[in-house]
Amino acid sequence: MKIAVLGTGVVGQTLAEKLISLDHQVWIGTRDVTETLNREAFKNWHLQNHKVQLGTFAEVVGGAELIFNAVQGAVAVLTLDSCSKSDFDDKIIIDVSNPLDFSKGFPPSLIDGLSNTHSLGEEIQGVLPNAKVVKTLNTMWCELMVNPHLVNNGQHTNFICGNDANAKETVVGLLQSFGWKKENILDLGDIENARGTEATLLIWIRIYGARKSGAFQFNIVQ
Ligand SMILES: NC(=O)c1ccc[n+]([C@@H]2O[C@H](COP(=O)([O-])OP(=O)(O)OC[C@H]3O[C@@H](n4cnc5c(N)ncnc54)[C@H](OP(=O)(O)O)[C@@H]3O)[C@@H](O)[C@H]2O)c1
Repeated sequence: MKIAVLGTGVVGQTLAEKLISLDHQVWIGTRDVTETLNREAFKNWHLQNHKVQLGTFAEVVGGAELIFNAVQGAVAVLTLDSCSKSDFDDKIIIDVSNPLDFSKGFPPSLIDGLSNTHSLGEEIQGVLPNAKVVKTLNTMWCELMVNPHLVNNGQHTNFICGNDANAKETVVGLLQSFGWKKENILDLGDIENARGTEATLLIWIRIYGARKSGAFQFNIVQ
């Protein structure tokens, strides 16, 4: 599949690397290609992952069949606004971003207006009504997104939500190719449920602070 990953940070890199290993055609999106290639860390990563093509956010969305949103939550809508809206029509956007506000330092809070009675997932679905936004993978460290076996033999919970049942089914298939077992993917319902999954970041960050490692996960048992 032709997949665009919006975001050159650690999450975008981790997803792009995994997708290439699964033989997808992958483009990674950024604001300014030249500037990004001048960053030592990204340049080194790209040298080792040269099959991943780099383009502006607008360029990579245009050619994609499916899109991952892995940009900083505070600028996610701005980033999507920099692309042609019609390029998202009928496409699945897998949103792994979180509406974190670091303006008052660490730990971050959730952005006012994108939390509690609203969410970033809903906001993205609202600005791109013809896209199929599926929120998933945002509640865990990025290494676990693509390597779920790294903790508890892969027995832990990934939440998913979105308005389009077929889109969620497609995403579950992709997640299975990442190593997720279907029974560990918990469908919460429509995109409004992003309010809950994004809010887990408040506790996630504090667990991370206490454990000094992102190698842990939520597991729903009964
Ligand atoms: N780190 C994790 O393990 C983890 C786990 C779950 C979810 N998440 C979520 O995944 C998303 C990506 O996280 P990340 O740590 O990889 O990267 P990040 O630093 O949160 O985001 C980097 C990306 O945001 C883009 N961006 C666009 N406008 C920006 C602006 N004005 N200022 C700064 N960046 C801007 C950057 O563009 P350029 O390419 O042009 O620099 C870059 O591609 C976030 O929403 C995060 O909450 C992270």
